[in-house]
Amino acid sequence: MDAYTTLLKPLLFRLDPEVAHNLLMGSLHHAAPLRLLRGLYGYTHPALAQRVWGQDFVSPIGLAAGLDKNGVAIDALAACGFSHVEIGTVTGQGQPGNPKPRLFRLIEDRAVINRMGFNNHGAAVVAARLAQRYAACRPACVLGINLGKSKVVDLGAALSDYEVSVRALGALADYVVVNVSSPNTPGLRDLQGEAHLRPLLAGVRATLDTVAAGKPLLLKIAPDLSDEGIDAAVEVALETGCNGLIATNTTITRTGLRTQVLRVDGIGAGGLSGAPLRARSTAVLARVARRVLAQPAARRVPVIGVGGVDSADAAWEKLSHGATLVQVYSALVYHGPGLVGRINRGLVRLLEKNGMKSISEAIGRSL
Ligand SMILES: Cc1cc2nc3c(=O)[nH]c(=O)nc-3n(C[C@H](O)[C@H](O)[C@H](O)COP(=O)(O)O)c2cc1C
Repeated sequence: MDAYTTLLKPLLFRLDPEVAHNLLMGSLHHAAPLRLLRGLYGYTHPALAQRVWGQDFVSPIGLAAGLDKNGVAIDALAACGFSHVEIGTVTGQGQPGNPKPRLFRLIEDRAVINRMGFNNHGAAVVAARLAQRYAACRPACVLGINLGKSKVVDLGAALSDYEVSVRALGALADYVVVNVSSPNTPGLRDLQGEAHLRPLLAGVRATLDTVAAGKPLLLKIAPDLSDEGIDAAVEVALETGCNGLIATNTTITRTGLRTQVLRVDGIGAGGLSGAPLRARSTAVLARVARRVLAQPAARRVPVIGVGGVDSADAAWEKLSHGATLVQVYSALVYHGPGLVGRINRGLVRLLEKNGMKSISEAIGRSL
């Protein structure tokens, strides 16, 4: 138990989830005492460090996309101990997202349902913010920028919308993510099909190379793809020059929940994340990792595992099933920022227990 779970969480859980979210993000944006956060939450250990895409990650644990959609709290989040922070999803045009309420806690399930719908300031505004803040220095963590399609843009014009964002943001990111896996933008996940995905990724790759040649490009996929769909997405990602994949986004399934979702006011459609997603997202991760490992060495790329990570054991499970890096979102709602350090400390203990000297030895052991 820490200050978050004993003091802050009971207060925040009395508020509407999005109000609580905005309150926290507002205080991280405007008033975050970085030194205090670093003192409370910062934890590093040499055994956790890795170089991925030629960049230094102090640990495998990063923040998944969706919490800091506009890149307003990167420094504070880095101070909480994340090795990488993925901002976004950012779209070509700024947009308000879906009508509220659109964010729900499923407390009994340690889960979240959201249908935010890519509410964000848009690529130009986020780019101006980052360019100003990081004109003289880079963020204190690896910065991922996750890109999606603006709602008003037709599926057929998706590439040009992604390209607007790539041109604005590509050079400011340490890695760029093509998100085609959110369930909350109508039709978006159709872009995961081979016929759409190949020209989309090839186009994004080409445009990214014009603003930042060779910048790592990742594809984020949904947990609801069939096995054939996963295999095809991996194949297309590798053929079009992607440098990694992220498995997975939220699920549209509702199986195995304790919460009687039909009884929760307004809950309706949206993506489910948190503990109930863990097994499925790990299964998808393992399939992706196996496909990647089956490639000639030159085509192998790192995979980021995300979905239901709420402990060192859960992070270890992702690493064992082929994740080079691991991301967290929903568990932060339930456990607070202290979770990052607890996971990292636990990973060091698991390394010792398994007689391993470095986190890279743990990757893919269960494949
Ligand atoms: C409220 C909320 C908003 C999210 N927004 C995005 C988003 O904008 N882009 C994206 O790629 N993923 C988004 N995600 C998905 C997360 O990045 C992550 O893939 C998913 O939640 C599984 O991880 P978790 O179980 O640790 O939450 C969102 C998740 C939540 C809970």
